[in-house]
Amino acid sequence: MTYENLLVEREGFIVKITFNRPKTLNALNSSTLRELESCLTRLRREEKDQTRVVILTGAGGKAFVAGADISEMSSFGVDDAREFAELGHRVLDLIAEAPFPVIAAINGFALGGGCEIMLACDLAYASDRAKLGQPEVNLGVIPGFGGTQRLIRRVGLARAREIVYGCDMIDAEKARDIGLILEVFPHDELESKVTGIAQHLASKAPLAISQAKRVTEKGYDESLWAAHELERQAFGLLFGTEDQTAGMKSFLEKTKAEFKGR
Ligand code: CAA
Repeated sequence: MTYENLLVEREGFIVKITFNRPKTLNALNSSTLRELESCLTRLRREEKDQTRVVILTGAGGKAFVAGADISEMSSFGVDDAREFAELGHRVLDLIAEAPFPVIAAINGFALGGGCEIMLACDLAYASDRAKLGQPEVNLGVIPGFGGTQRLIRRVGLARAREIVYGCDMIDAEKARDIGLILEVFPHDELESKVTGIAQHLASKAPLAISQAKRVTEKGYDESLWAAHELERQAFGLLFGTEDQTAGMKSFLEKTKAEFKGR
């Protein structure tokens, strides 16, 4: 897979996607979003069996993604903006609903659309140089890629409003303390730490992780009854997989299971 604005590298079951427009701090223009849409679609269709974890990060050492591309957006009218928001929502939903975990390695600025991408990921880890935030109100707009809604679910209503209204940049430690990200690592160690986490997840039963993701993602906005039903269905389904047989057999025989994703 080769793209103009993304670098895509595979190592075994792990795929690293790097936003690669360093001159604009990896700002998201429509063509980058379309490339990400096509890349994620390919991973979840043609490369489904080979893909267990995806890592997202940014090129250039300064930014993860500094937001949607302001140069492109500056000439938008109402309809263009609505279309752009629809594209952003579609791509971020592909992350949130992917059958594999997606990890954000926040190696610098994660602002606006960059912070929203991070919010759509399953897990987020940051370098101690990272700065996060939703500065859209400074531009006379609001987050448009699902940020308002994912942010309130992540940090609560009052904190989300503080972040969106005030537009302040949040350093990595504060981001961890308010639950925006999970852990902070020294800048030079971020890549190896996140790769280690990805390898750890890639060794687990992929269909079980996929169902755990689906049930927690879909169940979050359902009633407790409906969410419990999703869990019961998924639990039952997994007993039809080779991985369940292998996992339980290995436990009983005190050996390590090799999961096949079947
Ligand atoms: N869009 C387009 N270009 C951007 C950009 C963005 N979001 N962020 C940075 N750039 C460009 C700058 O214009 C600059 O280009 P030139 O060299 O051609 O001037 C280059 O990247 C480097 O940026 P700076 O010189 O500004 O670097 P800095 O270190 O002084 O500041 C920064 C870094 C604080 C991140 C600053 O660039 C900044 O504030 N960027 C914009 C952040 C922002 O507002 N993001 C939200 C966008 S709106 C959005 O995302 C909407 C949505 O939800 C869909």
